[in-house]
Amino acid sequence: MQLRAFKLLVAAAASASGAKWRDDSGNDCSSDVLTASWCASYGDEQFEQKDGSMQSACEAGCEACDGYCDDASCEDSSSWYYKKESKNCDWVAKKAKKRCQKSGADLACAETCGACDEEDDDCPADDASWFYKKSKKNCGWTEGKAKRCAKEGLGDRTGYEACPTSCGCETPEPTSSTPRPTLAPHGGGADLASPEGPSQQCADDAGPPWADDAETYPNARYHDDTPATPSLLEGGACAAPLSAACEAKGARAAYLDGPVDCGGAGWFCRIMPQDGWTSRGTLGGDLNFDHCNETANDDLTGHCHGSTDDATYGWWIRDHWFRGYAGSLFCCCDWERTKGVVSRCDYRMPVTDVGDGGAYDLETCRDANEDHGYGYEGRCKSKYEPFDDPLDSTDQCWALTSFADV
Ligand SMILES: *[C@@H]1O[C@H](CO)[C@@H](O)[C@H](O)[C@H]1NC(C)=O
Repeated sequence: MQLRAFKLLVAAAASASGAKWRDDSGNDCSSDVLTASWCASYGDEQFEQKDGSMQSACEAGCEACDGYCDDASCEDSSSWYYKKESKNCDWVAKKAKKRCQKSGADLACAETCGACDEEDDDCPADDASWFYKKSKKNCGWTEGKAKRCAKEGLGDRTGYEACPTSCGCETPEPTSSTPRPTLAPHGGGADLASPEGPSQQCADDAGPPWADDAETYPNARYHDDTPATPSLLEGGACAAPLSAACEAKGARAAYLDGPVDCGGAGWFCRIMPQDGWTSRGTLGGDLNFDHCNETANDDLTGHCHGSTDDATYGWWIRDHWFRGYAGSLFCCCDWERTKGVVSRCDYRMPVTDVGDGGAYDLETCRDANEDHGYGYEGRCKSKYEPFDDPLDSTDQCWALTSFADV
């Protein structure tokens, strides 16, 4: 089997370079659990970006991925699992329609998820007229990509409905037969909205569409059962800007979904490397700031992002969570406090459904993290001295470890 061949290939390369690399769970370069799930999730192109540490330690990583991705077996993997060992292909099979959409499941559990059924005669042809938002985002664009297949395009049909061949003939129940609750369009109930609405979702926000959460995460939030851990104060209290949210929905949901109460001053967050966790995500490829007490001036300390609008917080979190910016999260109120603390910080625009068809109209917005010209490029001017970081102020700041979906 191809999988075995590339395991050997990777193992040989690893020992040739003397690498002793292991991930948090003790998988090394020869682990098909690891390679298979990375390859299946990200493909060879992103293999390198997604996990630099593995790539450099296991030199043959990309070749290995090529082998996996081109010749994925038509059997279910016996070693793959989604987050927990119990969530293996047998678990996927119990609710295949939904679970095959989990990261990597479609390829790892090829038999269950029908990845090899492309020539299945029962599978109706793709609808050539369907597209999502733009004509080039047609059925061909959805092929093999669960997230794209889940998008609702022309005629309010998802890729699964319009592109059965490209989307694996595993058509989920048509959405019309599973009416959504009208008052709570996500999360299985208003109290589970993650983040709380109204929606600020734009086309390029990572992760499954927020409005589909009721189906994607029935009676759960997207970050339930993840290692993300809010840093609570002594006695278990939440930091002040989140205390109301904590009371309403619990600490993890508050820290990840908000709403933050910064009195309207906005917020800024720094995602910084966390030993044993950052190496799993994309953070290393998008470091964008230094602290102003540093001399390095290379913007490699972490990823800073913020906004003048308190309400954008949970939307930024959700996007960066699904982009895999793994690290520890340190956030503070007041966008203006970036001055003299960090050299740079990206900006998230509030998105309001004003119907003007502009860049921040909910219907048409592409990426609220870009194209606004509001990013902070303070460059740590000396007039901001002395360095005064609010980081430890529990009145103003909050933190969470093991951030992001990886
Ligand atoms: C600079 O500031 C950061 C954040 O406040 C802190 O973690 C770090 O220890 C400081 N470094 C020095 C050299 O003081």
